[in-house]
Amino acid sequence: MKDLSLHILDIIQNSLAANAKLIEISIDENERKDLIEITIKDDGKGMSKEFAESVTDPFTTTRTTRKVGLGIPLLKQNAERTGGCLTIDSQLGQGTIITAAFKPSNIDCPVLGDIAGVISLTVSGNPSIDFVYNHKINDNLFTFNTKEIKEVLGEIPINDNSVYKLLKELIQSNLEEIESIGYKT
Ligand SMILES: Nc1ncnc2c1ncn2[C@@H]1O[C@H](COP(=O)(O)OP(=O)(O)OP(=O)(O)O)[C@@H](O)[C@H]1O
Ligand SMILES: [Mg+2]
Repeated sequence: MKDLSLHILDIIQNSLAANAKLIEISIDENERKDLIEITIKDDGKGMSKEFAESVTDPFTTTRTTRKVGLGIPLLKQNAERTGGCLTIDSQLGQGTIITAAFKPSNIDCPVLGDIAGVISLTVSGNPSIDFVYNHKINDNLFTFNTKEIKEVLGEIPINDNSVYKLLKELIQSNLEEIESIGYKT
């Protein structure tokens, strides 16, 4: 089964294909709530209500008459298998918000996987797109914004080889840190 981070990569790829200029990735892991919530928001070309409904449902009749990919249906299936769900909120010309909820206590819940690798690769591989990454573990937040990172980097382009490694380490160490803090109350 696919790691959650690979599902996230799939959904980000959809946003890139939809010509998004700003993509916001939010992950909220909460043990007490038995919930992992993943939200990908973009300002891409969006989908009509009818189309958005047809892409979430793998059993929709339109799927037999035209080619539709598997990225969204697979994510939906894996989320629902754990007792979670997937929702799409999209508007033509405005953008799309995809939210997937997983129940981590369920034996079928995939691991998060290499999220630091996925985020840093995506960010450094798409220098002209801006990304916001919010990751909460049990109420403790790590966040970054590529607009700020580009400012700090100055002359060094964000797709420079050294930046990928730096970003990955930055994300990894911060996630380890917020994971070790635990709940505030
Ligand atoms: N963020 C988005 N903005 C606009 N359209 C989208 C977005 N995400 C998905 N879509 C539309 O929904 C379709 C289905 O997406 P899905 O990820 O399920 O399959 P795919 O991307 O076509 O193929 P695959 O993911 O299997 O490579 C896409 O082809 C695209 O037309
Ligand atoms: Mg896709």
